[in-house]
Amino acid sequence: MDLIEKLTKYGQTHLLDDTLPAAEREAYYRLLDSFDYELLRRRPSLPERGKIEPVEPVTQAEIARARAEYLAEGKRAVGSGEVAAVLLAGGQGTRLGADGPKGTVDIGITRPLYIFGQLIENLKGTCEVCGAFVPLFVMTSAENDEITRAFFKRHAFFGYPESFVRFFVQEMLPSVDFEGKILLQGRGKPVLSPNGNGGWYRSLTKADVLRDFPAVRWLNVFAVDNVLQRIADPLFVGATLLSGCACGAKVVPKASPEERVGVLCLEDGLPSVIEYYELSPQMANARERDGRLTYGSGVILNYLFSRSKLETIADKEIPVHIVKKKIPYMNERGEFIIPAEENGYKFETLILDMVRLAGSCLPFEVVREREFAPIKNRTGKDSIESARALLEFNGVKL
Ligand code: UTP
Repeated sequence: MDLIEKLTKYGQTHLLDDTLPAAEREAYYRLLDSFDYELLRRRPSLPERGKIEPVEPVTQAEIARARAEYLAEGKRAVGSGEVAAVLLAGGQGTRLGADGPKGTVDIGITRPLYIFGQLIENLKGTCEVCGAFVPLFVMTSAENDEITRAFFKRHAFFGYPESFVRFFVQEMLPSVDFEGKILLQGRGKPVLSPNGNGGWYRSLTKADVLRDFPAVRWLNVFAVDNVLQRIADPLFVGATLLSGCACGAKVVPKASPEERVGVLCLEDGLPSVIEYYELSPQMANARERDGRLTYGSGVILNYLFSRSKLETIADKEIPVHIVKKKIPYMNERGEFIIPAEENGYKFETLILDMVRLAGSCLPFEVVREREFAPIKNRTGKDSIESARALLEFNGVKL
């Protein structure tokens, strides 16, 4: 099908612009031709779920008992270069609304302490314990790639060896208005946004960053915004490897039934992360005899995936989530509009959906106050303020 036919079929002919200079037009039409228009036709819907049942995590008490065994296996694996870390830093951080990538935000008080810098400090802690540097792959987006690389360079990689760090860029998807028409941000420029954190492995393999690290068998993927994140944590690595599972997920006991975190469950007998809004009030409030929430294993976006499993699931269909957002755009009169209300949809895949595809997962319970200090909002809950308090509690000088 040629482009005009395609755009006509999908009601997107408003994108055609023959007044653009030839070279620009050619690149623009090539980009338009690459879009998956069937995907862009989809509308938000809750995923159809199978039978949901609770899952028992490996509790902190169990971990304490098996500590020596887990640590020995984890140190062996990390120490021999079998584990790499993947820092997901391609998000737009709209809730925080910082100028620039989230990782570049300074959360220090008496000294500069950048989020990226704190994460590297955490990673160095692992390297010291395991006696080896861990390869670190940083996923950026087309929007923030250059500035992120420059930031690491300017700060001399926060003392981490540059030869162990690689950057790779995630893919972008167009955004549409409520009628499904692709929005433009300027002439010949569709509004593109990062395709969510579920495409990380595809983008990583496309960039071929594993080439220089052939020993890597496991990938520890984590979010940029949890400054207490333990990276390539040998205890977690050891537990997951010894469990025989294809992946491990760090979980914290949910603080309350209302807490807005995904919960690790079983879905039709397979591990699966259910979003907080998918749990019925009965399920969210159900408790065990000892008072623990039945559906209480909250995920903190720290997963360990086996590389060979990732290779087999990479091409499986990962669900696409469609989210209403306020999307700045150019109207038919060529004016740039910053909408006050939500005006369209963005399309994204989520890493939590990979847990189900992996087929088996070890839920590994960690101490919230020691490992979970997310920075999502400007103030209040999960903000710079709350993360600072938790960093201080863990002995970090701010
Ligand atoms: P969030 O879902 O919190 O998204 O990302 P965000 O973009 O940082 O913030 P909001 O929702 O716009 O306020 C969780 C993790 O996934 C990464 C983020 O950088 C963060 O580490 N992420 C998210 C990506 O790498 N790419 C994406 O497309 C989305």
